[in-house]
Amino acid sequence: MDLFEYQAKQLFQKHGVPVSLGEVATTAAEAKAIAEGIGGVTVVKAQVKIGGRGKAGGVKVAKTSDDAESAAEAILGMDIRGHTVHRVLVDPGADIAQEFYVSYLLDRANRTFLAMASFEGGMEIERLAAERPDALAKVPVDAVVGVDLAKAREIATAAKFPDELVEPVAEVLVKLWDTFVAEDATLVEVNPLAQVGDGRVVALDGKVSLDNNASFRHPDHAALEDKAAADPLEAKAKEKHINYVKLDGEVGIIGNGAGLVMSTLDVVAYAGERHGGVRPANFLDIGGGASAEVMADGLDIILSDPAVRSVFVNVFGGITACDAVASGIVAALDMLGDEANKPLVVRLDGNNVEEGRRILTAANHPLVTMVDTMDGAADKAAELANAGA
Ligand SMILES: Nc1ncnc2c1ncn2[C@@H]1O[C@H](COP(=O)(O)OP(=O)(O)OP(=O)(O)O)[C@@H](O)[C@H]1O
Ligand SMILES: [Mg+2]
Repeated sequence: MDLFEYQAKQLFQKHGVPVSLGEVATTAAEAKAIAEGIGGVTVVKAQVKIGGRGKAGGVKVAKTSDDAESAAEAILGMDIRGHTVHRVLVDPGADIAQEFYVSYLLDRANRTFLAMASFEGGMEIERLAAERPDALAKVPVDAVVGVDLAKAREIATAAKFPDELVEPVAEVLVKLWDTFVAEDATLVEVNPLAQVGDGRVVALDGKVSLDNNASFRHPDHAALEDKAAADPLEAKAKEKHINYVKLDGEVGIIGNGAGLVMSTLDVVAYAGERHGGVRPANFLDIGGGASAEVMADGLDIILSDPAVRSVFVNVFGGITACDAVASGIVAALDMLGDEANKPLVVRLDGNNVEEGRRILTAANHPLVTMVDTMDGAADKAAELANAGA
């Protein structure tokens, strides 16, 4: 889960990283009141989960509270690369002497954590990395050892910070690492980290991605979720503990096991090329124990997607055998009644497949077509989706 800047900086603050942090407003009048409370220069910043806000006009310096009001007026509702601005952060204006870049991330390719830092921050870090890679230090961080002051000094020195800045930057790096570990983040990034007029080193921006796999030990993270932005079907699936990802095609997909579902997406995408370019409408993995109830929940979610025109149920019976899955499908269709209103193509294989097929044949449901092979079933599902257009 990606956080908004204000949420990222709230987490930084909790772990002792110095930040410039005001308050969030959803209207221009609120922004004005916050700016009045802060007094002096403020910075009004679009809160969207996409980079390049400053360049897009989403970050404005305001000398007075009236300026803050008109800045908020201009920024609220703005579209920044496909993200509509619903909130602005009104921050105390910092008197910036220099801007730097620091981040920690999970380096999957190298199976380690990585610190990245540069004395030259502020500008587009991607460009710096591409044009002058030596200016961006990349220092692996051992997960067990972590970042203590000595390691933090090593990072700051590699990033070419001048001697007088190594110590204050290292202190921030240690606290930022504390944030990264304590919150189970996969990314924390500060661009810019700035040295301000009084010499302090402060985070003026913040990006944090939290690891959803660790959410069970962070009950407080649930409050950080942007519920308004969540896809309603994804939210419903989450409630039912179903692994569902909405895609933008027309063929609904249910399978058991993430690997099987991934390859089902592929064969449907290929089959779609022969049938009017239809594509998978979703990823949905009902997992190992495909009970009637889970099958009904899964089908219910897929059938609630108005874009879906056919459904491909692709199950390989393992510990939960095909007969149990077939009974699950029949029971699920019963449970859904009239809500089941789109053609289903079912491919069953694996443990006890004959009995599974017998159950489906006997049920003789008008919406269900059985196809024995995965490619054949994908083709049929794509054909039906195309015909239903
Ligand atoms: N509190 C502040 N006081 C003074 N200047 C600020 C403050 N916050 C940001 N700025 C200035 O605005 C610039 C852009 O701000 P920020 O880094 O938050 O947005 P961005 O980099 O454009 O967005 P993103 O990081 O999402 O691409 C900063 O580099 C800094 O110069
Ligand atoms: Mg930034």
